Amino acid sequence: MSPAWTKLSASTERLSRVHLRDLLRSSHRFEQLSFSAANLLLDISRQRLDTQVLQELLELAHERNLKPAIDALLRGDVVNPTESRPALHSALRMPKTTKLIVDGDDLVVGVQATLDRMQTFVDKLHAGQWRGYSGRAITDVVNIGVGGSDLGPLMVCEALHEFKPEAANAINVHFVSSMDGSQLSNLLVELNPENTLFVLASKSFGTLDTLANASTALDWLEQRSGLDRQLLSRQHVIGVTASPDKAIEWGIAEEHILQFWDWTGGRYSLWSGIGLPIALTIGMQGFRDLLSGAHAMDEHFAQTPFECNLPVLLALVGIWNINFQDIHAHAILPYDGRLAHLPAYLEQLEMESNGKSVKHDGQPSENRTCPILWGEIGPNAQHAFYQLLHQGTEAVMSDFIVPARRYEGREAGLLEQHQLALANCLAQARVLALGDAALAEETERPPWQRYAGNQPSSVILMETLNPGSLGSLIALYEHKVYVQAVIWGINPFDQWGVELGKKVANDLIEALHGEGKGDYDSATRGLLKTIQAMQEAD
Ligand code: F6P
Repeated sequence: MSPAWTKLSASTERLSRVHLRDLLRSSHRFEQLSFSAANLLLDISRQRLDTQVLQELLELAHERNLKPAIDALLRGDVVNPTESRPALHSALRMPKTTKLIVDGDDLVVGVQATLDRMQTFVDKLHAGQWRGYSGRAITDVVNIGVGGSDLGPLMVCEALHEFKPEAANAINVHFVSSMDGSQLSNLLVELNPENTLFVLASKSFGTLDTLANASTALDWLEQRSGLDRQLLSRQHVIGVTASPDKAIEWGIAEEHILQFWDWTGGRYSLWSGIGLPIALTIGMQGFRDLLSGAHAMDEHFAQTPFECNLPVLLALVGIWNINFQDIHAHAILPYDGRLAHLPAYLEQLEMESNGKSVKHDGQPSENRTCPILWGEIGPNAQHAFYQLLHQGTEAVMSDFIVPARRYEGREAGLLEQHQLALANCLAQARVLALGDAALAEETERPPWQRYAGNQPSSVILMETLNPGSLGSLIALYEHKVYVQAVIWGINPFDQWGVELGKKVANDLIEALHGEGKGDYDSATRGLLKTIQAMQEAD
């Protein structure tokens, strides 16, 4: 055990009988434990820690050489050794006036050139100048992608819909991800092939889910238009990929491909051409504002001492909860319906990045790593799983995310609804921490109406939700994930754990066609047989 780890273990023991309601008695707690940067305020005063613990966590960060690791990430060193590449999502949001030389190339030049190409696509579509096979202007764009090629753009489009410039009203953006065709089948009934454009978003251009949806979409175009498949794939499809050769082979016109780089991880790619649906929804200026917000967080992450560095603090709080407080469930609770997809986005970001049990040196991790993340719009979750947070047997850490201002200039009722959401956010954080002590009451309540409290939470407050603050928020979590990976000694940028399932599925698709290898376990054999019988029944 390292010196800081030993101290933290001793602090765990020291604080084991201290309840959050005791810690919150200090009148300076909020001032001591809330930090602001890049459009955001992070309040960690409802975490089960004191300033000594924070000091020890900071020591741990230094002990694990966090500062050189951050520099290595941002400089473009190989931080993803199993795939021998850097992870340079931060380069995608660097301003035009900056430089980042990696292996002799200035990456900012390529990034800016791609943004300019994106601008051309967006302008053409917004102006009604992208025409389908019959000459009608494209009105509907369907993004086909999955995981990082879907969740980020979907989340941002939903969050920033009200920032839609007038020109963007010309285009409706839709998302299709599920391999079973559920979303696509509904859309194909509603849409008109003459004015529909598909964006095939796939870093690898080899993901079966996406290729299956793409092939069905092209069948639909072909059947409905009676035209040649090759012509349709050239005119009605844009490819966004790091594998342009495969996209061209698939049939997409070279001039309709937005390329990005293998140093952009899938779940870190919304800042690249993968963000095309975002730019179509909020305009190119809105997209650039999103990038600026993320860049502000990058600068803060790179330059600020750890004592008040938001991603570092958010990560260290997680380390404290997971490794010292034995908490392995993490709820993401936005008190703003526009952030409905944020939990799903963060599930991939955190769990696909840090859901690892093998360290860089190939040895098993001696510590717990990423917890189980899930979440829901806070007010809705209050009527679903908060019962468990308040009275269950599981310790859960929560992140409350909320803007202070909303609906200015709108109906008084909506302004009041926002106050209601804020009041509920503050109330829930308070009750989770204090339990019964949140409300001074004279009479004793029966056991089933009592609240133990002591459930830790952080609050991330922003003045308003806008492209800049959302960019900062996403970058905050990206960097938090990296900091935790550095402390745990794991690689957050690969995802080998998802590969085996894909291979086995390939074999089983053959089995479903009656051609599989046949050497299956008894459960799989039994289900295959039953499914076959069900499919043959009339
Ligand atoms: O299977 C996991 C994964 O590789 C994710 O990491 C990725 O975001 C998703 O699939 C989609 O991959 P692609 O963009 O290459 O289609």
